[in-house]
Amino acid sequence: MNTFDENDQRNHPRTEDSEFTQMVSSLLSRRQWMGAAGVGLFLAGQSLAQAGKPMAQVKNHIGPRIGFTPIAANSLDTVTVPAGYQWRVLASWGDAILPGGAAFDPVTRGSATSQSLSIGDNNDGMSFFSLGTDHGVIAVNNEYANYEYLFASGRCSSIEDARKAQAAHGVSVFEVRRTAGVWKVQPQARLNRRITANTEMRLRGPAAGSDLLKTQADPTGSLVLGTFNNCANGRTPWGTYLTCEENFNGYFGSAENLPENAAFKRYGISAKGAGQNWHPFDGRFDLAKNPNEPNRFGWVVEIDPMDPTSTPIKHTALGRFKHENAEVVVSSDGHVVVYMGDDEKGEHLYKFVSAKKFDAKNASANRHLLDDGTLYVARFTLGEGQAQGEGEWLELTHGKNGLTPEVGFKDQADVLIHARLAATVVGATTMDRPEWVAVHPTQAQVYVTLTNNTDRGVKTNQAVNGPNPRAKNVYGQIVRWTPKDKDHTSTQFTWDIFALAGNPTLHKDAYAGSANITPDNMFNSPDGLAFDRDGRLWIQTDGDYSNANAFAGMGNNQMLCANPVTGEIKRFMVGPVGCEITGLAFTPDHKSMFVGIQHPGEKLTSSHFPSGGDAVPRSSIVVISRRDGDVVGV
Ligand code: FEO
Ligand code: CA
Ligand code: CA
Repeated sequence: MNTFDENDQRNHPRTEDSEFTQMVSSLLSRRQWMGAAGVGLFLAGQSLAQAGKPMAQVKNHIGPRIGFTPIAANSLDTVTVPAGYQWRVLASWGDAILPGGAAFDPVTRGSATSQSLSIGDNNDGMSFFSLGTDHGVIAVNNEYANYEYLFASGRCSSIEDARKAQAAHGVSVFEVRRTAGVWKVQPQARLNRRITANTEMRLRGPAAGSDLLKTQADPTGSLVLGTFNNCANGRTPWGTYLTCEENFNGYFGSAENLPENAAFKRYGISAKGAGQNWHPFDGRFDLAKNPNEPNRFGWVVEIDPMDPTSTPIKHTALGRFKHENAEVVVSSDGHVVVYMGDDEKGEHLYKFVSAKKFDAKNASANRHLLDDGTLYVARFTLGEGQAQGEGEWLELTHGKNGLTPEVGFKDQADVLIHARLAATVVGATTMDRPEWVAVHPTQAQVYVTLTNNTDRGVKTNQAVNGPNPRAKNVYGQIVRWTPKDKDHTSTQFTWDIFALAGNPTLHKDAYAGSANITPDNMFNSPDGLAFDRDGRLWIQTDGDYSNANAFAGMGNNQMLCANPVTGEIKRFMVGPVGCEITGLAFTPDHKSMFVGIQHPGEKLTSSHFPSGGDAVPRSSIVVISRRDGDVVGV
């Protein structure tokens, strides 16, 4: 997300500390990487496809076919797709999906009640669950609310406003059907559901019941109301949806001064808040009254899209941070592995490994696989003069790696609730804002978008390092790794950089980007990331769409398609004015692709997407397909 992330980064950047400078300087040659030109020379000097170890392993294959003709960048207020493709709007913010819901009112933009019966705002990560060839259910996150459009005043200034905003957050679940090739939302279908900032959910796993999770309203520390700032997502092999709580901190505040609190500071929780302004009207969000309430957010939440009466589960075993997505893969020996990014400048990359194994024949047992396991955080290393490095997953288990009462962790609940603090103790590598993680469908290879980090090389705790090689990084990069022995449970891996985004029309050094970035495909701030079944890597951007200065020639936010073997990247789609492209899902036949258009017209930029004319812009999901009905991307 752009606006919300930007705001959060401004208000709550990771504060200066010095824990990592020693580690970074010992592992990485600052001389090598600080000289940004050095990176550029290296990357420009050889094909990335030849540079990476994983590539070498598959050198006889050219990877998936990417058959479309790439499109040019543009700044139009519409969706642009390649020749031979078509798009249409599936659903928009405010579309009613539950009984009693009303059509979207462009004047009032709805009430708390109508919003609770309609699709929420700012659709983000989503999954498609098939119910047959032409029938499915979509679960989609509603990350935050665009107050400039939600409220006539642009502000939340009453309890009614707070309730409306809370109802615009969360997750929307709705059935869709394809008739004569056209997918349509099924209003009032059986599985339709809204999950909001007030839906009852349970905490499970090692931290459930911890004193840090108890409040006056919930002395058990296990029953929470709601989820919000649901960024990206995941899906489990047992058919459930994972929604990830990202910038939860911004919803809390207080009129009172708060005592110093190191954990609040690290998580960006402060009396000032981030302008959501729920706390004056809803005491649950007042930090002076409910100091533990924010500890109940920042989790991965599991939802059963096939049972609208089910209680969502917040999984404490997966750690508490600003979760981007949750990429699930079953390891070769059956353990469930979940890769997760923490999207903040200088934060980290995590992995969970379940204690028990997935059993396709034991559905009820699978529902508890995320309750118990081991959480790890990544440390990347790079030898002198090398382009590919090695890495290690460091265990975040109480009593190990220095996670003891002496440094503030009295039990595993403390470690999980304050996972960021624990990551620092064990020596994790600071990253350039980890966004989505994507696992290759057939190879043991994992990719992560590192969207940008203007603090890199500026703050003493964020020296340039191997996977984050450029100071004042405004463009972002995609890093990938291969677990040792192709085993996702291994604590060892090798890594390289798949793409350094940049602007080769302006720069000749590392800011030009890697060899696979050209004037024809350049972009900034990669964010959404997912493979299709054939191994095409789809990249979505949440970046600067000014089309000027450092970003000249990049146009609006967009979606690109990459061949992970050759490194080739082609632009597939450009979004409307002021939007971010985020969220994608395929039907099982891969003939329809659902893509999220988030916050068109944000900051009152001149968008009227999707209705046109002088209509209020609305976040929407579009469906993209080929005119000849074939598989998307081929
Ligand atoms: Fe919600 Fe990190 O994007
Ligand atoms: Ca994102
Ligand atoms: Ca982003």
